Parts: sequence; C-alpha cells; structure tokens
Amino acid sequence: MIFLCAIVGYLLGSVSTSTLVVRWAANLDIRQHGSGNAGATNTLRVLGLRYALLVLAVDILKGMAAVGMGHVLGRGDPWAVYAAGLAAIVGHNWPVFFGFRGGKGVATTIGVLALVMFTPAALTGAIAIALVALTRYVSLGALTFTALTPVAAMLLGYPWAKVAFAVIVAALSIYRHRQNIGRLRRGEEHKVFSKS
Ligand code: G3P
Repeated sequence: MIFLCAIVGYLLGSVSTSTLVVRWAANLDIRQHGSGNAGATNTLRVLGLRYALLVLAVDILKGMAAVGMGHVLGRGDPWAVYAAGLAAIVGHNWPVFFGFRGGKGVATTIGVLALVMFTPAALTGAIAIALVALTRYVSLGALTFTALTPVAAMLLGYPWAKVAFAVIVAALSIYRHRQNIGRLRRGEEHKVFSKS
C-alpha cells in the first residue's frame, strides 16, 4: 500500500500547475522564461500576482490532496502518508508529464507539511513570510521554511519519524534551490515586486 501511495502521490505531484496555467493563459512555456522554474514565484514574474496566487493555491492543495490520499489509501498508516507526501513533492520537481522538468516543490511542501505537522509549519511559515516581506527573496523564505520546520518539530517533541520526514523534505528543497543559494550568497538573487 505504501508503494501505491507513492505512485499515486507522484502522479498527482506531476501535474505541473504553473506549466499548465502559463501555457493556457499566455501560450508560453514557463520553463523558458524568468528563472526557468515551474512554480508560483516564476508565474508571478511571467504572468503577475493573480495567476501566481492561483498556482500557489492549487500546488498547496495538491500537497494536501496527496497527504489525504495517503491517509485514506494507507488507512492511517503514517508511512503511507509520508510516502504520498514525499512522492508528490518529487513529482512536482520532476514531473513525468512534463519531461521531468518541474519546480522546487515549495508550495507542494507547504501543503504536505501543513497537514503532517501543522504547528511547526505554521511557526516557521510565519517567520518565512516575514523574511520574504523584509527581503523580497522568496527563495530565502522558502529555504527558511523548509530548513527550520524539522528543527521546530524536534523542539516541540514530535516523533522521530516525523522529524526525519521533515529533514528529508528540507534536504530535497535545499538541493532544488542550490542555484538560488549561489545567487543569494553572491547577492545576485532576483527579488519579487522589485526591478532588481
Ligand atoms: O518557489 C520557488 C522559489 O523558492 C524560488 O523560485 O523562480 O525564484 O527560482 P525562483
């Protein structure tokens, strides 16, 4: 059942919302524009705020749907939930329907972590939102959110399996953001709502 949850989660994650929305709204391949990333932040650059919020919402719901599906198919087995959630993020990043070129998994991760560990995700999410508001670096906020959530889960006494799950999700996010990390270190990262 865990394997089935992973397969269904992966297929769900592989529905690349930003690729579909940008193709439908502007007949463009989002992966050829802006940062080249198939995600909400790049949709903001290419199509503006309304479409970015649509992509963000659908990708968050996609992560939540994967967790819900894992819960139902796995009949409450937490490992089925972890497999479904992680597979959805992997699908979002490397979508089978779009040549394995997807996004960085942030919105899908928000949806997954919100259901798997609401309190740590809400706390670190609030810090991340404040950071993005202050710096306008979405990648910095995303990395802060994913990297700090396992720390918050550990400090709040969550079971080791949940903490380990959050560590794997964070490692995946850091790996996908390695170019952003390089740009942040060089002071060259693109800001949102700014010309720089
Ligand atoms: O959602 C991904 C975000 O953290 C960075 O996106 O397009 O600036 O590389 P982007």
